[in-house]
This record gives sequence, C-alpha cells and structure tokens, in this order.
Amino acid sequence: MDTSAYLKAHIRTVPDWPAPGVQFRDITPLLQDPKVFRVLIDVFVHRYMARGQRPDVVAGLDARGFIIGAVLAYELGVGFVPIRKKGKLPYTTVQESYELEYGSATVELHTDAVQKGERVLLIDDLIATGGTMLAGKRLLEKLGAQVLEGAAIVALPGLGGVQRLRDSGLALHTLVE
Ligand code: PRP
Ligand code: ADE
Repeated sequence: MDTSAYLKAHIRTVPDWPAPGVQFRDITPLLQDPKVFRVLIDVFVHRYMARGQRPDVVAGLDARGFIIGAVLAYELGVGFVPIRKKGKLPYTTVQESYELEYGSATVELHTDAVQKGERVLLIDDLIATGGTMLAGKRLLEKLGAQVLEGAAIVALPGLGGVQRLRDSGLALHTLVE
C-alpha cells in the first residue's frame, strides 16, 4: 500500500456531523496509532527538510493544525505560531473573517508572530472550501510574511477549496484526497 492509501485507511468518515449533509473526515485515528502518526509527520518532515523548502516558521490553523504543525516545527527546528479562532489570543492581533462549509468564523494572529519577509509554512488537517487556509494566508501576508506553501493531510477537491487556494497564488501540498 502506498503512503497516501495507508494514511487514508486511517481517516474515519462521520456522516451528518456537525450538521446534516456534512461528511466529516475525522483524522483522530491517524494520531491515535503511534506508527501511523510517525509516518504522517515524517512525510511532512522529509518534504520541508529538503533544500529550499525549509520554512523559517510553521503557522498552524486552529485546532487540528496545531497538532501536526507543532510537531513538525519541533522536528524542523523552527518556531510554531498559532492562528486561532477569534477571542483566544491575549496580545494584539490581526483578524480575518471567512465562510466555512458549515458556518462562518474569524481567525486571529498575534501581530508579532512573524517578521516581514519570513518564509512561513501554513498547515492544517484539511482543506474543504479553502476559507480557513485563505484567511490564514491573508493574516500572514498582512504582517509581511511570505507563505511558502499551504499543507494539509486531506484535500476535499469537490468543495472547491483547492482550486480557490491555487487561484489565490498559494502553492499546496496535500497527502490524501
Ligand atoms: C475544519 C478543518 C479546517 C477547516 C477546513 O476546522 O480542521 O480548519 O474546517 O474547512 P475550509 O477549507 O472550508 O475552511 P473547523 O473550522 O471545523 O474548526 P475546528 O478545527 O476548531 O474543529
Ligand atoms: N472542515 C470543513 N469540512 C470538513 C469535513 N467535511 N471534514 C472535516 N473537516 C471539515
């Protein structure tokens, strides 16, 4: 089995959650099994350790982007910054609002989280409409950072997010569709 199929076999689909009609792709089984968790992180580590691909900072999207983003940053030997849902960050922030597959949201980033010109890897568990990752990209760019790439475990291309993000000029790297 190739790596993508191996990872995919450990993603659970929960129908009608958190709203009727949503097929929720649950990545918790990937994290629960230590062998699978290691494969998952190592795939990202190998890519971003490579020459020219190494970021200065990893930015993780609330909340599952924190789990993989923090471990990846640790392995790469770079800092981690959280992009959080509104009202959770204590210091001064920049903000962006966006629409989700099931509702709307605002995300925030501390104004001193990244420096102008820093190369940032933006990471989350999943891309659906792309709204969350696009909001994260905009926050980082507001602070003058350069978003090297957007990374996620899962892309749901049927929801249009992959195309939308590519149209915004963001390079993407995802492991499973
Ligand atoms: C999920 C997922 C991504 C986002 C993707 O998070 O973890 O962050 O949706 O959807 P999009 O591409 O349509 O923006 P959610 O907003 O459900 O928040 P949570 O991580 O706090 O559960
Ligand atoms: N975020 C938005 N849509 C999602 C889905 N179908 N599964 C998991 N997370 C999501």
